[in-house]
Amino acid sequence: MCGIVGYSGIKSVENVLVNKLKLLEYRGYDSSGIAVKSGENIKVTKAKGEIANLERVVEPLEGATLGIGHTRWATHGVPCEINAHPHLSMNKEWTIVHNGVIENYSALKTELKERDYEFVSETDTEVVVNLIECYSGKPEVKYDLAAIIKACERLDGSYALAVLNRKSDKIYFAKNKCPLYCGVNDGEFMLSSDPICFVGFSNEYYVLENGEFGYYGNGKLFFCDESMRQTEKEPVKLDCSAYNFKNDFSHFMIKEIYEVKDAISNIMEYYSEKSSWRHFDEIDFKSIKNIKIVGCGTAYHAGLVGANIIERQLGAECGVYVASEYRYASTKTDKNTLAIFISQSGETADTLAAEDIACRKGAKTLAVVNVEYSTLAKTADYFLPIKAGVEIAVASTKAYVAQIVVLYLIAARIKSNLGCGETPVKGELERLKNAVTIRNIEHYKRIADELKSRRSLFMIARGADYCTALEACLKIKETSYINANAYYAGELKHGFLAIVEENFYVCVFASDEKLLSKTLANAEEAKARGAKLILTTCCDLENYNKSNFDIIIKTPKTDELLQPAADIVPWQIIAYYISVAKGLNPDKPRNLAKSVTVE
Ligand code: F6R
Repeated sequence: MCGIVGYSGIKSVENVLVNKLKLLEYRGYDSSGIAVKSGENIKVTKAKGEIANLERVVEPLEGATLGIGHTRWATHGVPCEINAHPHLSMNKEWTIVHNGVIENYSALKTELKERDYEFVSETDTEVVVNLIECYSGKPEVKYDLAAIIKACERLDGSYALAVLNRKSDKIYFAKNKCPLYCGVNDGEFMLSSDPICFVGFSNEYYVLENGEFGYYGNGKLFFCDESMRQTEKEPVKLDCSAYNFKNDFSHFMIKEIYEVKDAISNIMEYYSEKSSWRHFDEIDFKSIKNIKIVGCGTAYHAGLVGANIIERQLGAECGVYVASEYRYASTKTDKNTLAIFISQSGETADTLAAEDIACRKGAKTLAVVNVEYSTLAKTADYFLPIKAGVEIAVASTKAYVAQIVVLYLIAARIKSNLGCGETPVKGELERLKNAVTIRNIEHYKRIADELKSRRSLFMIARGADYCTALEACLKIKETSYINANAYYAGELKHGFLAIVEENFYVCVFASDEKLLSKTLANAEEAKARGAKLILTTCCDLENYNKSNFDIIIKTPKTDELLQPAADIVPWQIIAYYISVAKGLNPDKPRNLAKSVTVE
């Protein structure tokens, strides 16, 4: 969470920082701020809320050529101007922006208070900037960068930092467990939490590693390790085509739902190449005795669908875990485990920690990730990209479908590598592509209109349909703040039926032919208590009483293992339109951020 940016160059620094922060706003948007520097004069401007609020109050500082900026997702202290970054050290010698969490900040704060340091904010970041100031005053610390390194040695936790010193024209940076990138172009320098900021700036950029430090100043870009030994880095090419902006869509969320189909095409093209599997095929699958899938939120739901695919395709047991639980549980994981970590961002703190644990237990770790330059993609033993393209909206849509599709291909590949038969993946994915093509948008808008004033919604399902119900609930909750909850249909009579009353909406997911009659019988039980029913199914309803349902969403039939990927799309659209109908911003749900880089 949080996005940081730094710039040094010839353009209006305030404009550059604010415009780049807008691109990072998906990382947090409860407050923002910039610090710009002209000579020894540092001017800090902050605002609560969206970057647009900051933009309204920023005024240029004469002669400013460099600066740093931050968009915040609050971890320590409420969202307000005082807690917004940048933070200054007590003697105003240093200014800092920070992404991450300092776990031992409280002890450090006490230590600094004993040295008469005073604090104005509730943040962990203000501790870091004062620690730097404290070290920079010591006679044995000769360089600014040495003071930053010494301070970082004391930090437990994660950070990407951009730092200014009042007397220097350098921008200093440091990275540990939070993403950080930088690039130069003809006398200009840019530092950012996401390469998206290099679009229109440079064709390449540098990826900072954990434990790396550096600075840009006087036209020189310098990287070093914690001993201040210079590190050599090769730049990475920027793939500008990946950053297609909102075009004519009102929001990223709806644009990205329309891109689900493209994501499947990209996957088909990429994985039809043998070379894409080269590394993965080296795994000795015969030695794998158990498979685990780990992820958070939507990625976890994709894991649930994936586990069903793997179990059905391979006849192997596959456990699915929420990353924040897996990392503290004593789940059996050893050298015979294939542990699959699913993440759109590849930066989710819990997922990264879970991967680290599985790795230390000897498992073979596989990252199924969208952001190909992310930490998870680099740290796992094996990496398979999901090829969904950049996903900006906080609510994950195309990445969810892409995750399921890649898990489907993984199961088929393992089956083939074990000599257990081939799956006709190409034909099945073509079918899925057709199924996710958006039709009936007016139908979905009407449903959204019907549901927008509800305070709660219930979803019921059995088998793999339950994963769709869970994910539909998550989409509705995060984009429209309606309390939507999923239950196994068979559980209805075990408690939940008590809640059902006249005109209460129950959404029924029933695409599994074998379970259809059972699920519809449960739906009737709710109907008998006055519920209104919305049915989502790909099944033929000829032998059923359709009039039981107030609304029917008929989805095209696909391979039953892929059906959850097709059935979720209408609900992604409905969630989007409920949010719009309620006057909310579906791209930026309250209290959430796209990349959860803190535990
Ligand atoms: C929901 C959503 C989140 C993420 C979760 C994991 O729409 O986007 O639940 O799925 O925070 O994020 P990644 O996939 O980046 O690890």
